[in-house]
Amino acid sequence: MRNCLHSIFLFKLYNSGLRSRSKCTARRGRACSTASLRQPVRQLVSSVKFSPAQFTMFTVFLLLWLCIWLVTCLLKSRRPKNFPPGPPVLPVLGNLLSLNLENPLKDYERLRKSYGNIYSLFLGPKPVVFINGFHVIKEALVTKAGDFSGRPQDLFVNDVTQRKGLILADYNPNWKEHRRFALMTLRNFGLGKNTMEERIHGEIKHIIKTLDKSIGKTLSPQVMFHNAASNIICQVLFGTRYEYDDKLIKVIVRCFTENSKIANGPWSMLYDCYPIVRKLPLPFNKGFKNFEICQNLAQNIVDEHMKTRVPGEPRDFVDCYLDELDKRGSDGSLLSENRLVFNALDLHFAGTDTTSNTLLTGFLYLTTYPHIQERCQREIDQVLKGKDLVSFDDRHNMPYMQAVIHEVQRVANTVPLSVFHCTTKDTELMGYSIPKGTMIIPNLTSVLNEEGQWKFPHEFNPENFIGDQGDFVKPEAFMPFSTGPRMCLGEGLARMELFLIMVTLLRKFKFIWPEDAGDPDYTPLYGVTLTPKPYRMKIQLRETQ
Ligand code: HEM
Repeated sequence: MRNCLHSIFLFKLYNSGLRSRSKCTARRGRACSTASLRQPVRQLVSSVKFSPAQFTMFTVFLLLWLCIWLVTCLLKSRRPKNFPPGPPVLPVLGNLLSLNLENPLKDYERLRKSYGNIYSLFLGPKPVVFINGFHVIKEALVTKAGDFSGRPQDLFVNDVTQRKGLILADYNPNWKEHRRFALMTLRNFGLGKNTMEERIHGEIKHIIKTLDKSIGKTLSPQVMFHNAASNIICQVLFGTRYEYDDKLIKVIVRCFTENSKIANGPWSMLYDCYPIVRKLPLPFNKGFKNFEICQNLAQNIVDEHMKTRVPGEPRDFVDCYLDELDKRGSDGSLLSENRLVFNALDLHFAGTDTTSNTLLTGFLYLTTYPHIQERCQREIDQVLKGKDLVSFDDRHNMPYMQAVIHEVQRVANTVPLSVFHCTTKDTELMGYSIPKGTMIIPNLTSVLNEEGQWKFPHEFNPENFIGDQGDFVKPEAFMPFSTGPRMCLGEGLARMELFLIMVTLLRKFKFIWPEDAGDPDYTPLYGVTLTPKPYRMKIQLRETQ
């Protein structure tokens, strides 16, 4: 045994020699004299002769160590007492092998069918609870909101955003203060002279200009809708809009869309499960680079604001935040200049990819369901007769259009797994015990197509939102913005954008699925947000307006 330990010691010594060499190389930029380190160790190693008994002992020792490690992993990957059920867990890997990491949504649905509306999985060594269906999600996020409104703090996305934003802030006073401030500021920008409606209509003019250029031709709406959504929130945040071919906005939108896919992709899953890989040069590093680019651009905008602002006369969100900082001085407020950039980026990100992907899904369905498009247009023509512009209030007279927009949001399922939540204390849900700090994934998909909640859960059909009298009705299970205290902060803005943009465009143009485009593919690309596959639509000017 002594010899055996001795051999291990020599092996370690040999390796540490190699390690100190690599550290040395990295620090000084030139190789150390490795020969001087290796030589005596090699001599020592070669001087040790293993007898068969020693070799057996060494193997036994190694096996013993392996067993202890395996038992530790097994214990770690066991469900705690009375934890929600789930498939058997493999040590180290957890349940990763039973998921398609490129798009696990179908697997999550399959597991719901096997284990019920509340089940658990191990993502590597991490236990995660999935909550499904209207009743369970409402019970957790609304009835027991205080217990379920935290956010996990040890994920790829936390590291990328340096734990300074609003979306991923834990359920604490910092989150509360920033959320209240953002809501208040968004609301203030909806009032006054230059209202939110006017801003949106201003942007719609640019969409129309783009579509006008494509009359009689086909157009891919991807970039146009992304830039339009980005511009609307950019005006609120930074008081600026950018031309659709502007380099800066192209870079920001590219970074956002890429990060939305990276953040839920297989590499970030690996990052979340195994901290050991975090420093390796793997594809998730692209997410850090993208964020850094956006951070620098936003910082420049904030710096510019600091130079040009007139205190007390805010032009946008950034000015409001700086005014608020002046007002509060050093009273212990949780607002800070440093957090401003991260909060602004969060709002920009959250307000761009979501709205634009919903619009893309909307126009994909409207072009391929021409009878629904025509019925919308008949209603729009009738209600807006003689009116120059549609206003958000007109929605009350357009039950069918409202039903179509809501149905688009239901099938678009834009944020399928919400933003991940986390328990803030040891708690219970539906009779199961869930310890503090457990990651909770609200599967919004499972509510938006839940049987029993919808007349037609598995098809695109606006009748899902039409009552017996032909009126617009919104079932409680309509929760694309999630529910509870962490519910989407931009719901009001998003709903206004979707209504004004879709009505204005449908009033002016007819959108046609090109004859040579083959059958439409409605299966979206997976990410934090679901994105329709790229498509083209033919644009025609309508005669009746
Ligand atoms: C169709 C468009 C949108 C959809 C479907 C959507 C959906 C969601 C969902 C599902 C969440 C997660 C809620 C939760 O954790 O339970 C969320 C959070 C959030 N959304 Fe949206 N969103 C949309 C548009 C917007 C817009 C335009 C903004 C910006 C003004 C925005 C800002 C936010 C913020 C800041 C959060 C984090 C709230 C918090 O953690 O307290 N969203 N959104």
